[in-house]
Amino acid sequence: MIKKTCVDDLHYLENLERLCFPLENWNFKQIQSHHEIHPSLLYFAEDSEIPLGYLLYSETSFELEILRFGVLIEARRRGIAESLLGFLVDLAEARDIILEVNCQNFPAIAFYEKKGFINFAVRKRYYPDGKDAILMKKEPK
Ligand SMILES: CC(C)(COP(=O)(O)OP(=O)(O)OC[C@H]1O[C@@H](n2cnc3c(N)ncnc32)[C@H](O)[C@@H]1OP(=O)(O)O)[C@@H](O)C(=O)NCCC(=O)NCCS
Repeated sequence: MIKKTCVDDLHYLENLERLCFPLENWNFKQIQSHHEIHPSLLYFAEDSEIPLGYLLYSETSFELEILRFGVLIEARRRGIAESLLGFLVDLAEARDIILEVNCQNFPAIAFYEKKGFINFAVRKRYYPDGKDAILMKKEPK
């Protein structure tokens, strides 16, 4: 149900980005450039060829960084984000996973805290809306 993206999947990512982040989203070119270096993850329900969630990440030998992560509104609270993150945790093996999140994004913060992420820094007034970014990380078990 979870697969890494190939070139043919990039239109899915563009669509999911627009639906999950209506106010600011990566355009096709940004997604394409990212894909040239790192694959992304797509979540498909068993009975559908349309993905319901996605996760874009980058990786080095020390850590993985979540760059974009979303689930369609109508598919939320069904464990899809947990499944995508679980896949990433397996990929991470002994590496940390890091991310930044808007301090007002309470659903995402609740999700990450549930999954064992801790705050390790704040970037003041980082986003265009003037809100702080919270940097979170999950260390390997
Ligand atoms: C954050 C997001 C990816 C979570 O996706 P999801 O598939 O609904 O999450 P899950 O169903 O796997 O949730 C797992 C747990 O996280 C917590 N959680 C998820 N959404 C929550 C919410 N809205 N409020 C409080 N807790 C929440 C709950 O503990 C939940 O478990 P439960 O449903 O058994 O109570 C989704 O809300 C989303 O796409 N938001 C918009 C995009 C975004 O903000 N992305 C993150 C940017 S950093």
